[in-house]
Amino acid sequence: MATNPISQFPSDFLWGVSTSAHQIEGAAGEREPSVWDAFSAEPGRIKDGSTAATAPDHYHRYREDVALLSGLGVDAYRFSVSWPRVRSEGGLDFYDRLVDELCGAGVRPVPTLFHWDLPVTLDWLERDTAARFAEYVSVVAERLGDRVKKWITINEPAEHTLFGHALGAHAPGRQLMFDALPAAHHQLLAHGLGVQALRAAGADDIGIANSHGPTWPASREQGDLEAAGFYDLLLNRMFSDPVLLGEYPEGVGDLMPGDVSADLKVIGEPLDWYGINYYAPTRVGAPQGEDIEFGGLTIPAELPFSVREIEGYPVTDFGWPVVPEGLTELLTGFAERFGDRLPPVVITENGCSYEGVDDQERITYLDGHLRALHRAMEAGVDVRGYFVWSLLDNFEWAEGFARRFGLVHVDYDTLERTPKASYAWLRDGLRSRQRTG
Ligand code: NOJ
Repeated sequence: MATNPISQFPSDFLWGVSTSAHQIEGAAGEREPSVWDAFSAEPGRIKDGSTAATAPDHYHRYREDVALLSGLGVDAYRFSVSWPRVRSEGGLDFYDRLVDELCGAGVRPVPTLFHWDLPVTLDWLERDTAARFAEYVSVVAERLGDRVKKWITINEPAEHTLFGHALGAHAPGRQLMFDALPAAHHQLLAHGLGVQALRAAGADDIGIANSHGPTWPASREQGDLEAAGFYDLLLNRMFSDPVLLGEYPEGVGDLMPGDVSADLKVIGEPLDWYGINYYAPTRVGAPQGEDIEFGGLTIPAELPFSVREIEGYPVTDFGWPVVPEGLTELLTGFAERFGDRLPPVVITENGCSYEGVDDQERITYLDGHLRALHRAMEAGVDVRGYFVWSLLDNFEWAEGFARRFGLVHVDYDTLERTPKASYAWLRDGLRSRQRTG
């Protein structure tokens, strides 16, 4: 393979890997339950019947995992703080220890404050959850703010709304369709209040992790174009516009609970950077009049769009198409649409699921996406960092442990960690940067 693309990036570019608490920590008995514990306990919810009670047991093995980070040579580690754990006796001590360990290893801690594991007694349909989130953020910032500089408020509120509250494939398992939208608004409000709480604690390096991908219409026919436009509105613009512009796209605001104009001022609090999780574009067409099985999900017939296969590209073991140029398209599109309202961008997640330890396909995926990212930067998009999803194989939500996104393989019987070929590839790329940069 040609030169590792990492060597082309600026020397101050931030390289990292990502995880989230519920997906790797385990030690579920040592904290309050979250909506994901309750959901996973219901028969049939998780494809392989598993729960994240033990997962890779990072809670007890974090030292070994920090050693893996340090061996990899990344600058930063994005993890999430479990709100239910922080509410439990001694829970915040764990993050204190983790942050110390990271700092000791020269790896910058980048915590996400909400990554889907809501305390089971709370509910995003309740407005008050946003205020409770801000209180919790203050507690965490107070404790970790002396060592943590870079913060992420919330992760992928779009997916948490769609899968968790509209379709019911994720926790908390609600199938409210469009009545799920208040859950989106309250998460966005929580983001804005979280930014205010972090600022009050002195933070000046704050972002969000929103998922985005280009929406490709199934054809140029009017019905397909309209359906794709609507999908893009619901999954992309409904989450980017309030955060970056302080407004909902036309039509969406009316679906939200009551008068949201004052909330939008909070949601639009200026950010220091904007985090994007990118996996693949989505092909969208007019509704087909029947339920569609797609990517392990049932897309109900009553939605005003349908999701189609993307043909002509390789797919990961998850069946997701591998479309690196979608990342260039996404970023140049963002820069064009938001202009100087777009702060510097950080790719907070990008990665793929493949079996095996000799994961050449993951190397191809990462190599292609880094080249695509670099092309967007050459085209003028200000991108400051890139985080691979994920450090370790982990609990992939409704898919259980069947999907392996890690640079490091986890044997779920022995919990043994084995770095994959992609880990060595990334490590060598990062080393070459140190030599040249
Ligand atoms: C997005 C989510 O933030 C993360 O939790 C998930 O594992 C990856 N995408 C892969 O699906």
